[in-house]
Amino acid sequence: MSRTQLRDEVITLLFGGYEATAHALSWTWYLLDAHRDVADRLQQEVAAATPGDVSDLTYTRQVIDEVLRLYPPFWEVLRSSYEADDIGGYTIPGGASVLLVPWLTHRLPGFWADPLSFKPDRWSGWQPEHRQAYFPFGAGQRLCMGRPLALLEMQLVIATLSRRFRPRLVGDRPVRVHAQSTLRSRRGIRMALDSA
Ligand code: HEM
Repeated sequence: MSRTQLRDEVITLLFGGYEATAHALSWTWYLLDAHRDVADRLQQEVAAATPGDVSDLTYTRQVIDEVLRLYPPFWEVLRSSYEADDIGGYTIPGGASVLLVPWLTHRLPGFWADPLSFKPDRWSGWQPEHRQAYFPFGAGQRLCMGRPLALLEMQLVIATLSRRFRPRLVGDRPVRVHAQSTLRSRRGIRMALDSA
């Protein structure tokens, strides 16, 4: 590896390994505060689970899948076409930039029932009809190599914190989505920790 390549690899790992997971967790606490029924159920599962054993955390995993559907940290994925092609009736010229936007695809009514609602239950024994309708970790050759780590990390962080705390949104400033390189909130999400 050249020094430039090595630097690029390290930056990708740090950026992908830290920032995306952090934003996904921020949106998780925000959504749990807005959906107390989901937070209650999650807390029940976590309280009954064996500490450190994620196989008990199936509902927690459904919550994560649903958070990543509504708030995919990488809300856009860019591709360049090598050559001209027709995809789904659209002509893509060679050398074109093609933007895939999970934020939009994850909310299309053609693929998702009640797409704008936060419903972790939709993931119970179910997968989207089209295998590319859900791609928070990308797809194909460039599929996120940190996916298993990110999912494990999120399950463990959510379970560990939910055992002791219930985050609650504070202040009356509305939380606004800010689509930069990652999907973040415009001025952060301020939360207080109540005892669970
Ligand atoms: C919730 C957390 C995460 C999300 C949503 C996420 C999402 C993604 C997406 C969409 C891509 C594909 C980008 C593209 O196709 O252009 C990607 C690639 C990548 N991710 Fe993640 N990621 C997450 C966590 C992580 C973690 C924890 C690591 C490493 C520790 C990581 C390392 C990488 C790397 C190295 C690539 C580039 C793979 C390649 O180009 O071959 N990611 N990620």
